[in-house]
Amino acid sequence: MLTKERNDFLCRVGAGTPMGEAMRCFWWPVLLSNELPCLSDPVLVRLLGERFVAFRDGEGRVGILDELCSHRGASLTVGRVEDDGIRCVYHGWKFSAEGGLVHAPNVESKDYCQNVRHPSYPVHEAGGLIWVYIGPRDREPPFRHFPWMDLPASRLDIFGFVLPTNFLSELENHADGAHSTLHHDISFDVQSVGKKMMEDTFSVSIEAPPIRGEIEETEFGFYYAIIRDDLAGGLPAFTLAVPFILPTTVIPLFTEVGAIYIINVPLDDVTTLNLWVQTNTGEELPAFPPIWERLPEICEQMPGRLVAGLKINEENGYLQDRNSMRHGRYAGFLGRARMEDPAPRQVFWRDLGGPSSLLHQDLAILLTQGAYPTRSMEHCVPCDNGVLWLRQQLTRLAQDVAAGESPQSATADVTDVRGWGVYKAPWREILPESRAMG
Ligand code: FES
Ligand SMILES: [Fe+2]
Repeated sequence: MLTKERNDFLCRVGAGTPMGEAMRCFWWPVLLSNELPCLSDPVLVRLLGERFVAFRDGEGRVGILDELCSHRGASLTVGRVEDDGIRCVYHGWKFSAEGGLVHAPNVESKDYCQNVRHPSYPVHEAGGLIWVYIGPRDREPPFRHFPWMDLPASRLDIFGFVLPTNFLSELENHADGAHSTLHHDISFDVQSVGKKMMEDTFSVSIEAPPIRGEIEETEFGFYYAIIRDDLAGGLPAFTLAVPFILPTTVIPLFTEVGAIYIINVPLDDVTTLNLWVQTNTGEELPAFPPIWERLPEICEQMPGRLVAGLKINEENGYLQDRNSMRHGRYAGFLGRARMEDPAPRQVFWRDLGGPSSLLHQDLAILLTQGAYPTRSMEHCVPCDNGVLWLRQQLTRLAQDVAAGESPQSATADVTDVRGWGVYKAPWREILPESRAMG
């Protein structure tokens, strides 16, 4: 159980809060590059409780500026995007992508423009995403280069959901290995290594002994190992080592030729952009339709965005199929996708009947926990140690930043961070030495 103060410390992300200030020391992805073609409509961007406008001018420059016009505060989200900036439609002030005032039709003096600078933020495009840094300029870290950023678009599948919940809920779910052996009542049809790993990790078992967790701290954050012991003794039957790249990135699934990176972007205290980057280095991916067409039963398009909102909510019972539970299914969250086999090989979506259920199961539970869980009723048990470690790591991150330190994970090399699934082996021994801090 957490006190209200501890919970708020972990969950509040606005300016001036300890976690919010720590989060501001990182670059964040806020839009898919495809969402912002040249001269397209401006987009409202929310991040860490603040509001911005994003646009791409006629020269291809992306600007992310404070939302409200520096003249008298009209929203630039209803502005006009022009070749060299965005123009406020109220009195016509135009700002460049860097925030310079380039035209003020209601001011006679030509020199006046030099006096005004609209707040703008460093932008970086990489891996099909637009990233922004809104923290203090003297703490701007170098851009972290994830391995998937080197892949061509044909080997990436990027999609996202706007979750009506605090960022910590989704993240904790990945540090909660124990739910995987019970809640996910599905059988995967994922080939080769992926298939075996999935079965070993997710096979349903009310009777089996609870799986254990272990942690190994690293420069980028930590590995959380989900361990299934061998009932006959000796080394664990199976261990899944999941990297958590602080503050909010996790690599929950991976195979020899691909991985899924999930980035939780806190939009405010009760809204999270849950971005998925799925890679396949083995072969090119087919052209995927948007996620709301792949999972039409649980997803819907957000207005003007390429990410999805969720159709599941308390009013519709989270679309739980109670009848299926009377006929063998455990949790009744069945997902149901429309597309058939859109992805080759190991990719998560191969058996959409299965993985879409997995997604539905996880997302439904997050929503049942509420938009801003207080955690005041919790009775954590040893199996929950992954969740407690995650909270510890985030707490330390916020404390370090509050003490004036730059977070180590913001500058960590993440180019070859990956997860590991190992059989009958001491899992720490296979971690890259340079990553483990001992
Ligand atoms: S409020 Fe934007 S130009 Fe006046
Ligand atoms: Fe799950």
